[in-house]
Amino acid sequence: MSRASQLQQEMGLGPTWLPRDGWFEHHPAQIQRQEMRAAVTDAVDETDAPPLAAAAIPAVSDSPSLAAAITNQAAEPAEPPPPPPDAPIAETRIELPRLEWPQLQREVADCQRCRLCETRTQTVFGRGNPQARWMLIGEAPGENEDKQGLPFVGRAGQLLDNMLAAAGLDRDQDVYIANVLKCRPPGNRNPAPDEIAACNGYLLQQIHHIQPTLIVALGRFAAQTLLETADSIGRLRGKVHRYQGVPLVVSYHPAYLLRNQPDKAKAWQDLLLARKVFRQAAN
Ligand code: URA
Repeated sequence: MSRASQLQQEMGLGPTWLPRDGWFEHHPAQIQRQEMRAAVTDAVDETDAPPLAAAAIPAVSDSPSLAAAITNQAAEPAEPPPPPPDAPIAETRIELPRLEWPQLQREVADCQRCRLCETRTQTVFGRGNPQARWMLIGEAPGENEDKQGLPFVGRAGQLLDNMLAAAGLDRDQDVYIANVLKCRPPGNRNPAPDEIAACNGYLLQQIHHIQPTLIVALGRFAAQTLLETADSIGRLRGKVHRYQGVPLVVSYHPAYLLRNQPDKAKAWQDLLLARKVFRQAAN
């Protein structure tokens, strides 16, 4: 069985869900990969999309422009443009001077801004390519992540990697993965508001450095925290939101998907929406 087929089987997907060459053509890593291929193929026209993939993309992403599709979470007025590189990070809840990436990593590693520093094994900064154009944001490190110092390394992480691969995304090259919290809450309890506030500046700085084209919020907690809403994940999925001026798509947490296999199909729809939004935003 091919690698692609194995991934599809793992996700409970049929072969019509295979990603097509060309959708991710704007990404430098993809361009490089394509150049390295012996035969460089032309971008596949949208009309070649497999029927299921086409049907799975919610209507909102089919609207004439991405701007029209984007839901402004905060208020009715037009969304402000993303801040220029040297502008202060908006909505930072803790005072944190602008740091270079290695300094930021050190600051997080030594962080004692909340009680979680007393119970963690180590901080979990993030994983992937800091120049990636996709940024995935989860909740907080679990037991395995706390031990290894990397996000999404357990079974949920394996599923996430498989989903990304099925969508044509390399977890090390094409995405950067971080969490709302950099330390494990004991017993995997929900993060407390003061812990979120204490950690918020780190995530904002990561976003500022990476400047992703698209953010995917993984799970109810990350989505509700980033979008500052109590709406259910069912209401938040299938729409294009914004966080820090960046288009944001909500999907299920991989750990939830391990327990609720039928919802993998919905998660796949979310990925299809995400890549459609990415393609439009990258243009
Ligand atoms: N769950 C998360 O939200 N993040 C991780 O890093 C691991 C599990």
